Amino acid sequence: MTSRSADPQSARDAWEREYEDVHAYTTSYRDELDRGVEFLLGYLKRAGIQLAGPVLECACGRGRNAIPLAGLGHAVVGLDHALTALRRFGERTQREGCRGRALPVRHDLREPLPIRDAAVGAVLDITAIDNLVASEHRRAYGREVARVLKPGGLAVVVTFDLDDGYYAPFLRRPDAAGAVVRDPNTGIRNQLFRAAELDRLFLPALELLAGNRFDFVDEAAQERWTRRFHLRLYRKPVA
Ligand SMILES: C[S@@+](CC[C@H](N)C(=O)[O-])C[C@H]1O[C@@H](n2cnc3c(N)ncnc32)[C@H](O)[C@@H]1O
Repeated sequence: MTSRSADPQSARDAWEREYEDVHAYTTSYRDELDRGVEFLLGYLKRAGIQLAGPVLECACGRGRNAIPLAGLGHAVVGLDHALTALRRFGERTQREGCRGRALPVRHDLREPLPIRDAAVGAVLDITAIDNLVASEHRRAYGREVARVLKPGGLAVVVTFDLDDGYYAPFLRRPDAAGAVVRDPNTGIRNQLFRAAELDRLFLPALELLAGNRFDFVDEAAQERWTRRFHLRLYRKPVA
């Protein structure tokens, strides 16, 4: 029997509820560029290279990263399964005059990415992969990210560390590879990671350019927590 929390439909419903009225994860509503995307832009600037487009954002939510990038002139495709978030993304592209450059698309990341091989210059995964709580989905997704990147293309991944202050108390059985938590406030399940586990999903098809962990104090479910994230930058080798 499939448990309700493992049911794909219920995972989508939980996200729709989160966007409609729960609003437990405040970062998603602030419309500030994520630190991982800032890191990517800083890296490109220091290296003196242009962001090769188009950009694919996996689990784009309401477009807080995709829309500013479109505002900078990049073509961005955002994938998410939550219609409530995509609707808001679409409204904002209209308001901000970047409708032709930022395209929200409904897609479930457990399925192959709806993108041609070697078609995108960068992939943004800002708390996307942690939603894939089955290891076979994470492995397939890692392969898909490598497939769609152009040679030399970059992937930035920001996701939860096993010691994240909000999620860690919900962990029952952490293991060396990471662990799945179910947030009782939202019903949403997430995978927490150790860095080595993340790298196993993307290497050797991609190479690691940078790997950091960072902490910041943030609000979740109306309380303040020290959040701990991995930030990893990968590149597809040029053959
Ligand atoms: C924490 S939000 C992050 C949104 C955005 N990346 C940001 O930085 O604001 C996680 C997003 O993952 C999406 N998501 C979760 N599971 C998904 C799946 N299987 N396929 C597509 N999107 C998914 C949710 O709808 C939600 O928008």
